[in-house]
Amino acid sequence: MDIVLSGIRPTGHLHLGNYFGALRNFTKMQHEHRCYFFIADLHSLTTHPKSDNFHDNVRNVLAEYLAAGLDPDVATIYVQSDIPEIAELYVLLNMLAYQGELERTSSFKEKVRKHSDNVNAGLLTYPVLMASDILIHRAHKVPVGKDQEQHLEMTRTLARRFNNLYGVGVFPEPTAFNFGNELIKIPGLDGSGKMGKSEGNGIFLVDDEKTIAKKVMRAVTDSGPTQLQSKMSEPVRNIFTILEAVATPDTVAHFRKQYDLCTIRYGDLKKQLAADIWRAIAPIHTRIAEIKADRDYLRRITLHGAANARESARATLKEVKKAVGFKAF
Ligand code: TYM
Repeated sequence: MDIVLSGIRPTGHLHLGNYFGALRNFTKMQHEHRCYFFIADLHSLTTHPKSDNFHDNVRNVLAEYLAAGLDPDVATIYVQSDIPEIAELYVLLNMLAYQGELERTSSFKEKVRKHSDNVNAGLLTYPVLMASDILIHRAHKVPVGKDQEQHLEMTRTLARRFNNLYGVGVFPEPTAFNFGNELIKIPGLDGSGKMGKSEGNGIFLVDDEKTIAKKVMRAVTDSGPTQLQSKMSEPVRNIFTILEAVATPDTVAHFRKQYDLCTIRYGDLKKQLAADIWRAIAPIHTRIAEIKADRDYLRRITLHGAANARESARATLKEVKKAVGFKAF
């Protein structure tokens, strides 16, 4: 049985990228494997060190993930900061992570560009904390979107380095996972780049039918294909990528054909896309408010999850410390 782990930063509502990139894979696997799911609240401090609604954000994301199909009876669901063993492993792994390789990480370079006023050490060592999240449960598979591929590579490097240095086999080398397919990137509606929590280009699971229709109708396209210029532009390709995630293959083929024949009407394409997005998320959408209001339920889940996760984390840390050479007097 594989150990599967997935996580999310609580920096905004859950969007289609999170759902189709990582969560849907996870919920499909949760009944067949030992699954851990957590809210990466420590990670969110790297970019949002102080937030008035820190706890609300954690609660929102937790409720949205539960509404989207996480099953607390089979998966262990917890909040990262409730597991101090993760921070302890992070300290140890930091000794094995080199400045050069951390500085070369694309996510670090991007964050430096976006948050040049707050390039803190936590940002630099973000991949080490992420590796600690994964290695603390000795996970084999990590369902993630394409944007996390490099972090998984770094996790494998640190696992291998630890095993080699101490001559042990404590850590397996985990892989980024999407059912044998390529990892996916759900693009935003603004024509370029990926859908994000705070890029203003996303469709969120908390959005209602009307909001979704409005956002989709405003999505960036182009002036349409012609016999002379039929190469698909990035904004239109992005619309098709989202359509592929939510619609049937027949629907996608229908619009592809119209595009190739240069008879496509983007208004029709968008109407269809909005309808299919709503069909995909309506059942999730309706459960969110109910779950969020049930604080007792959320408390029980996170307490129970933390107890389970700590048990697994303690067992790993015991082996790690033994390998490093810590001993009681
Ligand atoms: P985060 O919070 O940015 O996103 C959570 C998950 O959603 C995926 N995702 C996407 N997939 C496809 N298209 C998109 N547009 C898109 N946007 C987000 C992400 O790939 C991710 O799987 N560093 C992580 C959180 C984390 C984590 C971990 C994940 C911390 N520790 C350990 C897995 C394992 C992050 O920032 O994800």
